[in-house]
Amino acid sequence: MFQIAKGILHRMDPEKAHTATINALKMGMGSLIGSAAVSDPILKTSVFGIDFPNPVGLAAGFDKDAEVTRAMLKMGFGFVEAGTVTPKPQIGNPKPRLFRLSEDAAVINRFGFNNKGLKAFKARLTLQKDRPGIIGANVGANKDSEDRTADYVTGVDTLYGLSQYFTINISSPNTPGLRALQSKEALEELITRVVAVRDKKVAGGQPSIPMLVKVAPDVLDEDIADICDVTKSSGIDGLIVGNTTISRPDSLLSDQRSEMGGLSGKPLMQLSTDVLKKFYRATGGGIPLVGVGGIASGEGAYMKIRAGASLIQLYSALVYEGPSLVSDIKRDLATFLKADGFEKLADAVGVDAQ
Ligand code: FNR
Repeated sequence: MFQIAKGILHRMDPEKAHTATINALKMGMGSLIGSAAVSDPILKTSVFGIDFPNPVGLAAGFDKDAEVTRAMLKMGFGFVEAGTVTPKPQIGNPKPRLFRLSEDAAVINRFGFNNKGLKAFKARLTLQKDRPGIIGANVGANKDSEDRTADYVTGVDTLYGLSQYFTINISSPNTPGLRALQSKEALEELITRVVAVRDKKVAGGQPSIPMLVKVAPDVLDEDIADICDVTKSSGIDGLIVGNTTISRPDSLLSDQRSEMGGLSGKPLMQLSTDVLKKFYRATGGGIPLVGVGGIASGEGAYMKIRAGASLIQLYSALVYEGPSLVSDIKRDLATFLKADGFEKLADAVGVDAQ
């Protein structure tokens, strides 16, 4: 069925195709795919205090306004990250701002955090509170904000208790200046302020919710050392490695390869996995890492786990492979783990990064 839908969707403008997909999922079309929620027990894993039925997550950006979390969990994802949401609604950059690089199985986007804002996001999450799975809330800053750090504080404060974890997204290439928050002093200040929100909530009797920071795959080695230093001493529970890249590998074939924005999909696999290994080594395996970038198969997922990822996420490959990809990855990942003699997923984490 996806092959038929793909034929139609891939003839449409990419952003219109995405909106059509979200609308179809909102109308319950996802249930036509059937429930793929069952996972092999070898895939169960416990990371930053949360029990995941499987390690395969939906990366941020697909469900920016938390409209289809339930449908995506039904597709078989072990967790779904909604967002990025900013305090105020934002229209994002001028269109066109999403490009399919079909020859490369890749995507370039320069959306610039188009979203309906925190109020709408909160309402959606509140409505879906009885959802059958794990949701992360990915928060960001408005483009015109004078105190970007304050935007993250507002995001965490407003949504506290409605998601199982938070992601502090400081790595989008499409909001000018945002990635400067990855520098040591700025990151220290940001983390201190968001962790203070959590401390206050916990003091008021609420549970402690894990907080992750999402970084760019374009970080330099010295940035990695700084980010790990700050993370180790700060109360941050994990890192997501990483976002889209502003680099353009020489291998790209598509005419649209020079469009401005962040590149994702297959050509990002090598770079993001190399950077993941560097983070694993720099943290001594002490901080859980979520591996993202270019995963399009069980083999890709397994490579990320062996490179140091406790969990993985994907987005772009869904555009090319469709929803059955999630079950395929889970099935093949379980097969790889068993074939290599691992009893549980956690035992394979980082074995290639030593
Ligand atoms: C993204 N990504 C993203 N990440 C994020 O933290 N907030 C966001 O709003 C978005 N938006 C977004 C839109 C589109 C169209 C794409 C393709 C990607 C990045 C995404 O979560 C992921 O980190 C990268 O896409 C790399 O993974 P894949 O796509 O190679 O599996």
